[in-house]
Amino acid sequence: MAGFFITFEGLDGSGKTTQLRRLATFLAGQGRDVVSLRQPGGTALGDRIRSVVLDSRTEAAVGRIAPMTEMALMFADRAQAIAEVILPALEAGKIVLCDRWTDSTEAYQGFGRGLGTDKVLEMHHAVCGDLWPALTILLLPDLQASLKRARRRNDRHLAAVGMDENRFEAENDGFYGRIHAAYTAIQEREKQRVVAIGDGTLDEVETAVRSAVLQRLQD
Ligand code: TYD
Repeated sequence: MAGFFITFEGLDGSGKTTQLRRLATFLAGQGRDVVSLRQPGGTALGDRIRSVVLDSRTEAAVGRIAPMTEMALMFADRAQAIAEVILPALEAGKIVLCDRWTDSTEAYQGFGRGLGTDKVLEMHHAVCGDLWPALTILLLPDLQASLKRARRRNDRHLAAVGMDENRFEAENDGFYGRIHAAYTAIQEREKQRVVAIGDGTLDEVETAVRSAVLQRLQD
């Protein structure tokens, strides 16, 4: 497989989506073939899964989603993205940029919902084999700043399209504290793969992301 797989991780509101777009533009400008996607989402089926798992009206309509169901839906989405988008792109030698991956499942379902790391990694192995990114950019600014940004953005989204993606963001600050701690633990465990970038202006973070990626592409 000649391609290169990069994922972005962080709390809601960490700015990773903006940074992913900037990196995609930069790499395309260098003549690289880049494919970007997000999770959940990235395929037609994935977008449907996304609207089920992220909309806070879902539970009002269908009742409580069990943590294991939530995790299985995340992996169902991922399986489709692998088959339809990620593997074909990597096999064609492209750079794949993915907004969230299994580290999100470990942080949100493993730690946030209390399913534990082992269950997440077992399911990853069953569904994704040993497909892991060559590099993961973890944007981990201060917890309170991230939360504020996420809430502002959700209010704007709700006002604009009348639908929120709020189910996770309605969780309390304890939930986010666990996720913040989970990401810190993942980074410590996966030092080779995961590069953490802290607070900074958009431009400062962009520069840090770019240099981490260029260094890895040269290795
Ligand atoms: P998204 O809009 O991608 O995140 P952000 O707010 O950072 O732009 O929303 C994805 C949400 O789904 C986010 O709250 C985290 C959650 N999620 C999980 O709980 N588990 C997963 O495996 C993935 C991929 C996402």
